[in-house]
Amino acid sequence: MKQPKKILLTGAAGYIGAHTAVELIQKGHDPLLIDDFSKSDDTLLKGIEKIIGAKPNFIQGDCKDPAFLEKLFSQKKFDSVIHFAAYKSVGESVSDPLMYYNNNLRSMVELLNAMKKFKVFEFIFSSSCTVYGQPDVIPVNENAPFKKAESPYGTTKQMCEQILEDVVRSEKELRVISLRYFNPVGAHPSGLIGELPIGVPNNLVPYVTQTAAGLRPKLTVFGNDYDTPDGSCIRDFIHVVDLAQAHVVAVEKIKNMPSNNEAFNLGTGEGVSVLELINKFEKATGVKVNFEIGSRRSGDVVKTYADPGKAKKMLGWQTKLSLEDSLTDAWRWQKRVSHLSI
Ligand code: UD1
Repeated sequence: MKQPKKILLTGAAGYIGAHTAVELIQKGHDPLLIDDFSKSDDTLLKGIEKIIGAKPNFIQGDCKDPAFLEKLFSQKKFDSVIHFAAYKSVGESVSDPLMYYNNNLRSMVELLNAMKKFKVFEFIFSSSCTVYGQPDVIPVNENAPFKKAESPYGTTKQMCEQILEDVVRSEKELRVISLRYFNPVGAHPSGLIGELPIGVPNNLVPYVTQTAAGLRPKLTVFGNDYDTPDGSCIRDFIHVVDLAQAHVVAVEKIKNMPSNNEAFNLGTGEGVSVLELINKFEKATGVKVNFEIGSRRSGDVVKTYADPGKAKKMLGWQTKLSLEDSLTDAWRWQKRVSHLSI
């Protein structure tokens, strides 16, 4: 085990934050979990408790609130901050962009302010492949340019990365890693934590599992007339536990990075179409998914998957779990929480 770290983990009651909390604790690190419950409740915190066999250290609070952060940072000492807390619904960001700019930018700026004041120098940022917009070259590597984002949500991720670039230039001791996620899917193999969308899911896999469970009558595939082998869009679906483990490695190795601001694509390196995913789900679980072909969803990237080579080379990280693992784990979780879905 590497040196255990004291970590502030924001957005801990959310999907990726909760999985990362488990991986960090199981590796002997000491995360303090925070969440304001604005887009979640304590369901995943209870799941974490069951997995690790103890109550995780948790404080409810909003990282946009400087007074809350001041109190937190003056009472606890941190080596690093892993910042997941953000809004992530593409559609909601289009209808309420100010809410997205206010939340996603302010929370990061206030955290960086607190880190500067209390001399905390390691920051891991939850970024997204959405920063690349419609990429020209696939697989996408970290040198791909930021194209115009498809939504205000995507713009907040680009702006956060820009802010980080400016801040590391002025604060020599600060070290930053931005992790650009492709499509996180699946759930913890215990079935105790997973994705818990509020209301009707926007993302594909929760929609698939809720339809399979009979909570939604039909899944709509958004377009089968794209320029891809089966006409549906292509994505890089990465198991959330693999993704969580990348955060553990990043926080352990942040001091060894050649520069004080690095970005890594986190994906499997394999493109899978929407129709292929439905087919794999049916094969992996033996459950049929009722679906129809609908029109294209505006703002969708046609085809994208990661070149995860930089993460492999510099972090020594690569995915270990398959899409079948993701889908059977997502299904196990769905069956457990169907009564909670609306
Ligand atoms: C989107 C965002 C991504 C964000 C992620 C998390 C973009 C381009 N991507 O990913 O940045 O991190 O959401 O919220 O903004 N699909 C269907 N039927 C459905 C749902 C989805 O066919 O009911 C299709 C979509 O058209 C898409 C694929 O499934 O082709 C994946 O969609 P989704 O799960 O929403 O993820 P992204 O759009 O890739």
